[in-house]
Amino acid sequence: MLRAGIPISLLSYACLTALAAYGQQSDLDEFKNNLAPNVGSPESAIDRMLQIAKLKPGETLYDLGCGDGRILIAAAKQYKVKAVGVEISSRLAKVAAANVEEEGLSKRVKVIHADFMRVDLSSANVVTLYLATTANDTLRPNLERFLKPKTRVVSYDYPIAGWTPIATSSTEGHYGDAHTIYLYEVPNSINKK
Ligand SMILES: C[S@@+](CC[C@H](N)C(=O)[O-])C[C@H]1O[C@@H](n2cnc3c(N)ncnc32)[C@H](O)[C@@H]1O
Repeated sequence: MLRAGIPISLLSYACLTALAAYGQQSDLDEFKNNLAPNVGSPESAIDRMLQIAKLKPGETLYDLGCGDGRILIAAAKQYKVKAVGVEISSRLAKVAAANVEEEGLSKRVKVIHADFMRVDLSSANVVTLYLATTANDTLRPNLERFLKPKTRVVSYDYPIAGWTPIATSSTEGHYGDAHTIYLYEVPNSINKK
């Protein structure tokens, strides 16, 4: 059948090709928009990060770049909070979701396969980060745009340039080396321009 001189089958094929191309673009973005390597936080650092965030039951924690979901799981188990992980790697997002499922936490913990730069963070009470200096620089405008007053941001190893921490804490890394955890609170930590 022809419509404006173009066979319908050709139109369908064009649509399918466009969808496939979109899929490939998403795959490409997975690498292009990846702002930090996958290195899991040590258990001791996670414990300390969650402790200084002073999580209260019922609050919502976002881990931006959640890797295998270890922070989400620890937060949900130890502090009875809801947790949302955002992970750009489809492989890691699947691993995190499977780990959450295995722990029986699927009702309270959600893993989103996405670029955290495109996620609305306004429902967060606590945001955890283990990224890199440039990643924090890139993310900062979104944190300032979305986070509501009293939201705490806890960053392992990398400070947020232009913000002032309300507290810092030292922990040991995987090899017994010293690492710093930075605690920020909105809006007190955001320096006035
Ligand atoms: C250093 S790992 C931290 C993993 C986990 N948060 C932890 O502390 O164990 C950084 C993670 O951020 C993810 N990532 C990097 N850029 C991202 C982006 N734009 N959106 C979502 N995830 C991203 C990486 O794939 C990686 O899993």
